[in-house]
Amino acid sequence: MNRNLKSNIKEFGDYQTPDELASEIITLIQKENFQPATIIEPTCGLGAFILASGELFPNSQIVGIDINKTYVEYINDQLRRKKSPNNIEIQTRDFFTINWKSLISNYSEPYLIVGNPPWITTADLSVINSRNIPKKFNIHNYPGLEAKMGRSNFDISEWMMLELLNSVKDTSTTFVQICKLSVARKVFKYCVDHQINIEKAYIFLIDAFFHFKASVEACVLFLQLTPGKFTSICEIFEKLNKNKLLHEIGVIDGKLIANIEYYRKWNHLNGESPFEWRSGIKHDSVKVMEFIKGEKHYINGLKEEIEIENDYLYPMLKSSDLANNKTNPNRWMLLTQKHTGQDTSILRKTAPKTWKYLMEKASYLDRRKSAIYLKRPRFSIFGIGDYTLEPWKIAISGFYKNLKFLFIGPKEGKPVVLDDTCYFLSFDNYWKAMLVHTLLNHPITDEYYRSYIFWDMKRPISKQILMNLDLKKLLEEIGYQHLIEALMKKNPYLKQEKIPIILKNLF
Ligand SMILES: C[S@@+](CC[C@H](N)C(=O)[O-])C[C@H]1O[C@@H](n2cnc3c(N)ncnc32)[C@H](O)[C@@H]1O
Repeated sequence: MNRNLKSNIKEFGDYQTPDELASEIITLIQKENFQPATIIEPTCGLGAFILASGELFPNSQIVGIDINKTYVEYINDQLRRKKSPNNIEIQTRDFFTINWKSLISNYSEPYLIVGNPPWITTADLSVINSRNIPKKFNIHNYPGLEAKMGRSNFDISEWMMLELLNSVKDTSTTFVQICKLSVARKVFKYCVDHQINIEKAYIFLIDAFFHFKASVEACVLFLQLTPGKFTSICEIFEKLNKNKLLHEIGVIDGKLIANIEYYRKWNHLNGESPFEWRSGIKHDSVKVMEFIKGEKHYINGLKEEIEIENDYLYPMLKSSDLANNKTNPNRWMLLTQKHTGQDTSILRKTAPKTWKYLMEKASYLDRRKSAIYLKRPRFSIFGIGDYTLEPWKIAISGFYKNLKFLFIGPKEGKPVVLDDTCYFLSFDNYWKAMLVHTLLNHPITDEYYRSYIFWDMKRPISKQILMNLDLKKLLEEIGYQHLIEALMKKNPYLKQEKIPIILKNLF
């Protein structure tokens, strides 16, 4: 394949599929015993799929389309050289100007729609002021506000795939596309929500870095559309073959479930957590508000030695600490308030050095972008309340692939605080915290949460997911005796007769 042909890679989301990968995918389709009458590749690029299809399905009509004229000329040249039969036609056209339903209906069923649509989002396109964008933009019909909030930022590939699926929804079609894992899930959910006749749905994970030098979680989405058939379950395979089924995702009651097996086992534990999960403190200025201890003074994020009072500094942990099971902090956070909206100017009197420091660094804090700081006391922080200063915490990172809940106690007599990438529960009673910690690290809890977590998301663990587990129901499920045994194992010095009292006051 000639990879030196010119293209504006970013604008056209241009990541050409290597020949070997295209052959592997076409072979996989062949193994499903599917014989397409027509194969269509809507953004065919340099034609890796076209050429592989020509070899493995020599009797099918093949149609390739791409916006890039040089690519189309290149493929036609290849076809001429290889003296390929006349059943392959390649056209230079813009995806967004094509009436796909009418184009496809010119050819015979069953169809195979295969390919690798552009890897770019509408937000990226608007940054480069590109017109390579669909006109009817808001596919999911998000209401105005949500659209403004950025939910209408979607992958062009998602839009293209839905356009194609809507065009073939009443036909017998195998639909196979390389895309981001998150896009594949959205497309699958859309099909279930809109009752598109899917008989089989598979996702095969691929190594995007190996194939495309792209750092995303990617896959091959495989949908078999058959009139009259319907499934709301999609099987996820480890690689581009069916050797190892990882798990199944599915749509249940309109919600996308990350692990159907675990969901079926534990969805009766759904409800509301009796304790409120909180996110940590938001201050948007690591340089000014976070410190490590130097020999004599504290050192801020600007690497300056700072002399300020101890009173408003608290030991802190962040997501990466939690992900590495670290519970003994070596950073400190300056808390300018004890609850949201508190007047910060009292620091002038109560901690003059801290106030002087804040005034010196005011330019950093005053230019914090988020609108939440507007019309608030100067140097405000967020996510702060009585819960912040309780001594015992159970915390988890929202960002990392680690479903371990950590138990965190005070350091140097001060409660440890978390940053806003973490979630936590806080307690004033050590044993209460210990019991809840034991509950949260139980294998049932692990399976329960895994039924809702999509690990490739930017923030896989959310407050919503954490809140949905009813710990009372969980306690009943695990059984008091088991919980007591687990607790005794962790705390051999705990007197057994104390436990019923702790349990009684737990919720
Ligand atoms: C990710 S590449 C994949 C190319 C090819 N399908 C493959 O698998 O190697 C995306 C392709 O989409 C094409 N493309 C981008 N925007 C397009 C549009 N509006 N209409 C048709 N093709 C487009 C690009 O030229 C590029 O070749």
